[in-house]
Amino acid sequence: MTTLLHIQCSPRKQRSASLETARHFIDRYRQHRPQTQVETLDLWSLPLPEFDEEAMNAKYAGLSGTPLTPAQQNAWDGLKALAAHLHRADVLVLSVPLWNFSIPYKLKHFIDLVSQKDILFSFDPERGLQGLLKGKTAVVAYARGMDFSGGSLTPAATFDFQKPYVEAWLNFIGVTDVHGLTVEKTILGEDVDRASRSAAAQQARALADALNR
Ligand SMILES: Cc1cc2nc3c(=O)[nH]c(=O)nc-3n(C[C@H](O)[C@H](O)[C@H](O)COP(=O)(O)O)c2cc1C
Repeated sequence: MTTLLHIQCSPRKQRSASLETARHFIDRYRQHRPQTQVETLDLWSLPLPEFDEEAMNAKYAGLSGTPLTPAQQNAWDGLKALAAHLHRADVLVLSVPLWNFSIPYKLKHFIDLVSQKDILFSFDPERGLQGLLKGKTAVVAYARGMDFSGGSLTPAATFDFQKPYVEAWLNFIGVTDVHGLTVEKTILGEDVDRASRSAAAQQARALADALNR
């Protein structure tokens, strides 16, 4: 059985282009693999803990090999429980809106919580940094309001810190089989939005087919 984790990073549930595109992918994926178990992590309804002083001290105690206090251990256990969602999944599907050239703060919050040594990566002087998520596939549905093609007002080379950041993070934690689905121009009028969503839906279904060939 395949476990698919859908990480939802848009607060809007009805009109979200990143959620809509990911759902097209997931629906088609499940047609190929009806046994797929889908787990959802909605970062807007999940009470994400603060990365507070206890968590920070736990992180640095771990790095220096110092035993954790009970409060630090408690904070650390919370981070591990959150990261366990990623460890359990075979396929990670992320729905990521573009906000101010980058990712929504809820996703950054999640990344700051779970990206810890011996939770999502390891480090030793000989082998360096190694991601701990192995053998997984990631599919990321990126939604953007504007046009990011070359020659547009907001070309990706200068205005896109969303896709490069998410890809760098996934690679850092060990996920190298990464596929992107892009839905752009969602704020350039109803017709343009509809055409973009429809093209992204097609892309999503084609990717689900390709991954199951
Ligand atoms: C706070 C905020 C900031 C945004 N910043 C940008 C931006 O920098 N560039 C852009 O093209 N679109 C921007 N948008 C538009 C969104 O990327 C667009 O509405 C996208 O469809 C959002 O994803 P969603 O439909 O999954 O919610 C922004 C939207 C919000 C709410």
